[in-house]
Amino acid sequence: MKAIIVYASVHHGNTRKVAEAIAAACGAELLDAVAVKQKDLSGYDLIGFASGIYAGRFHQAVTDFARDNLPQDKRIFYLMTSAMNRDFSKSMEKAVSGKNATVAGRFSCSGYNTFGPFKLIGGTSKGHPDEQDLKNAVQFYREMTEITV
Ligand SMILES: Cc1cc2nc3c(=O)[nH]c(=O)nc-3n(C[C@H](O)[C@H](O)[C@H](O)COP(=O)(O)O)c2cc1C
Repeated sequence: MKAIIVYASVHHGNTRKVAEAIAAACGAELLDAVAVKQKDLSGYDLIGFASGIYAGRFHQAVTDFARDNLPQDKRIFYLMTSAMNRDFSKSMEKAVSGKNATVAGRFSCSGYNTFGPFKLIGGTSKGHPDEQDLKNAVQFYREMTEITV
């Protein structure tokens, strides 16, 4: 199975750590959507979109990339890190609409946050993603690919 994770991780590299853990353990390719704007994804069986959450949304580099490059009829998944550790993947819906994508899974974990006033108190979720978060992410990916492939 050929898989790629398209990510943006501009705050502390939190999301990149999660994507890299999956790539290292399971063999997915990585693509930084902040640096690369176009890629032919037609040859991939599974495409992940990964982002830190900024003002409740995936980074615009990821939404734009999905809008511009996601082919029809692909299996996709979402990875996110945030202060609130919630599912913010609804912010991707518009970008992937009309492409008949199947969402195979969603993974969220906490990410170290020093945005705005949080910096004054030393940030929140310090140390995250930690080793356990990365293990959970790899397990999520393994279970998703076992079930969906
Ligand atoms: C400008 C900015 C806005 C943020 N907005 C939110 C938010 O709306 N909700 C939330 O839970 N976390 C928010 N965060 C925290 C980040 O989502 C969190 O630190 C994340 O792990 C950053 O990922 P990254 O290091 O991969 O960029 C925000 C952080 C920044 C810098």
